[in-house]
Amino acid sequence: MKLLSGMSKLRKIETSSLIKFCFQDGLEKDTHLKELNKILGGAIKKIYDSGEFSGKLNQTLVLHTLSQLPCERVILAGLGEKRKLNADSYRQAAGTVSRLTAIKRSKAVAFFFNGIEKYDAVQGTVEGFLLGRFGMNDYKTGENKNEDVIETIHFYTVSKQHQSRLDKAILRGQIIAEEVISARRLTAHPGNVITPTTFAEEAFSLAKKYRLKCTVLDENRIRGEKMDALMAVARGSEQPPRFVILEYRGAKAGIKPIVLIGKGITFDSGGISLKSALDMDEMKGDMMGGAVVMSVISAASRLRLPLNIVCLIPLAENLPSGRALKPGDIINSRKGKTIEIINTDCEGRLILADALDYAGKFKPQAVIDIATLTGAALYVLGYIGAPILGNNKKLLKAVKAASGATAEKVWEMPLWEEYGALMKSDIADVRNLGEKQAGTLTAAAFLENFIGDWPWVHIDIAYVDIEKSGKPYIPKGATGIGVRLLIELLSQWRRI
Ligand code: BES
Ligand code: MN
Ligand code: ZN
Repeated sequence: MKLLSGMSKLRKIETSSLIKFCFQDGLEKDTHLKELNKILGGAIKKIYDSGEFSGKLNQTLVLHTLSQLPCERVILAGLGEKRKLNADSYRQAAGTVSRLTAIKRSKAVAFFFNGIEKYDAVQGTVEGFLLGRFGMNDYKTGENKNEDVIETIHFYTVSKQHQSRLDKAILRGQIIAEEVISARRLTAHPGNVITPTTFAEEAFSLAKKYRLKCTVLDENRIRGEKMDALMAVARGSEQPPRFVILEYRGAKAGIKPIVLIGKGITFDSGGISLKSALDMDEMKGDMMGGAVVMSVISAASRLRLPLNIVCLIPLAENLPSGRALKPGDIINSRKGKTIEIINTDCEGRLILADALDYAGKFKPQAVIDIATLTGAALYVLGYIGAPILGNNKKLLKAVKAASGATAEKVWEMPLWEEYGALMKSDIADVRNLGEKQAGTLTAAAFLENFIGDWPWVHIDIAYVDIEKSGKPYIPKGATGIGVRLLIELLSQWRRI
């Protein structure tokens, strides 16, 4: 599948499916749409008058041209009200179009833009279209496989003057969408395929592809680093842990890196504090934070961002066995703080504790961790957005700005001292579970024990990691949330 830019009058475009974006009730003000209407003998006006199509966001209409135009069909795609327009309107509209049966049968698809629209319309369209049609086909066979027929996707504009901006927007949209898809795919792979070892192999091959430095610590080196908390979580499983370090250098050697940490539990059964069977299969996705940061650093390299970036991904499988960590156990951590284990299902914060401490090695200018950390996140923001917590107003503000630009929703929660107090242990320095209250906030307060003297933000993506029903550009399954947000954050990076 090739993405190409071009210049053409609307009525001259030769393709299987020509997509024309429309504003709600915008026929009268849209000269291109009026032109199409004329060529098609007034069909579009009729359709608007009848109320079959009005241009509402995510509304579509497929019109066969019966040789009145060089394209086989015209697809009208609603953007909604003009005053509410933003890049996400295009992302959504393109995502909706991408799943139409007519599109699935098309060898060639073409989008038409009036000029370069505001609000990064082209980039949003590329992202929405590629993300909307993503499907995980690896484990299907025969007819179930549903192979792709699209060969080319053209993005046309009327004037040559916009060509270089158009090409840039297409490439940027494509890189971002591909990296979201990589994260979705890695997350969707089952736990018997993605283990700490195979995840680390994947990191190695990505590093080769995108010129990153990759170091993988095996269990001996993890032990050597005194990452006792990571070792403790891994102990119940036959699968040994791994610790992946990916480094991208896009700035001078003296520039302090931004460190991204992703939770990499390749399957979370809960351990001895076993989860209930209901939805336990979803816990194969407990490494999405790791998949996300790996995609983000790949994108940073592909986009040649002028930054130094380090990714840390602690990897383990959380299973019960005769060797497994038990409630009541007291363990050490890399930082040297002792941890009383109240519940072995609070494993994510244990492996992140060691990764956060390890981040200090890089003298970071900022650290961001992203993790499917607490089921309690569902009661904070529902399936709609991700709670964020941190210790630095400027960094939090930058994350919120990136959230606004990408429509990957986040909301700040407080890191009050009282939550930290709930995580103190009677017998050790800290405990890994507090009381019933404020589970997402106390988990972040636990992590705070292990950070250094640098700006830090924690993003809890539990429950927004999996889409249950399907949205315009987020099909059912792993969402890859955070990839677009963090790429945007890094693209707009200012020294904190
Ligand atoms: N990986 C889970 C959190 C999670 C739950 C992610 C649902 C995605 C969807 C985490 O390791 C966990 O098990 N947390 C427990 C903690 C509890 C025992 C205090 C939880 O939130 O249920
Ligand atoms: Mn757990
Ligand atoms: Zn977990």
